[in-house]
Amino acid sequence: MTAGSDPRLIVALDFPSAAPAEALAERLDPATCRLKVGKELFTRVGPGLVERLQGRGFGVFLDLKYHDIPATVAGACRAATELGVWMVNVHALGGRDMLEAAREAVVQGGGSRPLLTAVTVLTSHDAATLAEIGLAGSPREAVMRLAGLAREAGLDGVVCSPEEAAALGERFGGELLRVTPGIRPAGSAGGDQQRIAQPAQAVAAGCDYLVVGRPITAADDPGVAAAAVAAEIDAAS
Ligand code: C5P
Repeated sequence: MTAGSDPRLIVALDFPSAAPAEALAERLDPATCRLKVGKELFTRVGPGLVERLQGRGFGVFLDLKYHDIPATVAGACRAATELGVWMVNVHALGGRDMLEAAREAVVQGGGSRPLLTAVTVLTSHDAATLAEIGLAGSPREAVMRLAGLAREAGLDGVVCSPEEAAALGERFGGELLRVTPGIRPAGSAGGDQQRIAQPAQAVAAGCDYLVVGRPITAADDPGVAAAAVAAEIDAAS
């Protein structure tokens, strides 16, 4: 797979306003990467920014992790579909009916639709915090259970850590795309990420799309940094 046909690199635009996000986009190539817009940027700037990024040719991953009653999540997924985003996500903890409603909403428009992915267990959770909120089993067991639910509900994939990617591949094969943050090119700081992998390691673990934020957004030359990560992904593919 070449970078141009389906870029596997997703650059996280974790900025508090549109100006730095658009300045970064100017330095990136839509043939090499897609862009992730999350809660802070979207809440501050809204869909207009998504439209402008798409107008520059970028596929956008709208990372808003919807989690609500099925009708509400379906409405949000319809709105994301109409916005034309490349990927949108929900929390698998919303349950089967919510996941199925989300799936229905994105396929309803026919034609080109966003990929629909699910967050299983937040990487900020450990066994103790899961027990506190009443979730049975280890984080790994909960990830597998919720990924199975997402697959049964017809979702396209899950957001997972590099460590979970291989186990998910063994269990579900190619039936669930794996979208993976916590990627750090050799020599870059891990920062607050606990479970990290280099791009080639993530590809070897079966990750389909790699989310990279600060190693690119904080680089002296983000365009060069993004091209280097994309080249490492390509070489390992
Ligand atoms: O800067 P960095 O590469 O750590 O950014 C990773 C991006 O992926 C951030 O937008 C972060 O919110 C997101 N993310 C994550 N871990 C998850 C889910 C999303 O780091 N489990």
